Amino acid sequence: MLKKILGTILCATMAFVAFTGCAGSGKKKVGVSMPTKDLQRWNQDGDYMKQKFEAAGFEVDLQYAGNKADTQLSQVENMINSGCKVLVIAAIESSSLGTALDKAAAKKIPVIAYDRLLMDNENVSYYATFDNYKVGQIQGNFVKEKLDLDNAAGPFNIEFTAGDPGDNNAGFFFNGAYDVLKPYIDSGKLVVVSGQKDFASVATPEWSTATAQSRAENIIGSNYADKNIDAWLCSNDSTAQGVVNALDARYNSEGRGGQWPVVTGQDCDIVSVKNMIAGKQTMSVFKDTRTLAERTVTMVNQILNNQTVETNNTYNNNKKEVPSYLCDPVFADKDSIQKILIDSGYYKASDLGM
Ligand code: BGC
Repeated sequence: MLKKILGTILCATMAFVAFTGCAGSGKKKVGVSMPTKDLQRWNQDGDYMKQKFEAAGFEVDLQYAGNKADTQLSQVENMINSGCKVLVIAAIESSSLGTALDKAAAKKIPVIAYDRLLMDNENVSYYATFDNYKVGQIQGNFVKEKLDLDNAAGPFNIEFTAGDPGDNNAGFFFNGAYDVLKPYIDSGKLVVVSGQKDFASVATPEWSTATAQSRAENIIGSNYADKNIDAWLCSNDSTAQGVVNALDARYNSEGRGGQWPVVTGQDCDIVSVKNMIAGKQTMSVFKDTRTLAERTVTMVNQILNNQTVETNNTYNNNKKEVPSYLCDPVFADKDSIQKILIDSGYYKASDLGM
């Protein structure tokens, strides 16, 4: 009997909470929609955002969508229905949230595209990100300098691995790097031995490590029996990790020797930083997710307080020029780990096995 009464009270309380949202607490609720828990960075983005929004007096509804665009759509719709006053979204597929964005607009809920631009819909209020084209340029320039393309005789062999075609950022990263390297490919100083050099051929659905690895294994098996690979331009760390696994088989297990290639990445994921320490990934690009989370909280506060929202750029999403704030990506290699990642408190030395 007592159990039954307690059960009834609990149910009634839960129903009340669900109905009122956070009206009782007097706090405004922000919906934060992240793509996946599978990649390290989104866990950090989500955690920082939760911390920083809570510290600024908000309630946070943080959801991860398991890299499924339809799950993300229903999560965002639930956020709208449950009383969120503002939405922060890192989209899985840049164009697939239109119906939710329209619903948000009907309820006058501002939407911030987080890291990845929401495309093909006018109901995107602001965009907070890093300079994604610049990320690619940093990677491309690194390869150019490491191989000394302006002075060395060459030719050098290179392969490319890019990101998820549904992620609007992936093209920016690839183009940023390719635009730096194209003149050397055109002149024959850089040779893409597989012949795969357009974005569609080198893209990696879901930025998957396993997919990047099996593609790299195929490329190595079919093209590099008697050739060395001088560079592998990877757009981010999760794909670089797959490529490094494939290179490990070619250069270490098979003992065929040769110079380990220059391998690029982005994010400074722990696994990749360890690979940098081991000399298997040559560089990464550090995008301090604390900075992006802070910027997003600032934007939300400015929007909700009717203040001028600070931006430093605009991005066209095929429907409007979205006012944007671009944070600065930072080059990272083995020698800068201590300063950029440990001294700044981003990682503990023990996280990196140091
Ligand atoms: C982000 C990268 C990340 C990639 C895979 C991109 O949209 O900008 O930092 O590596 O998604 O999660």
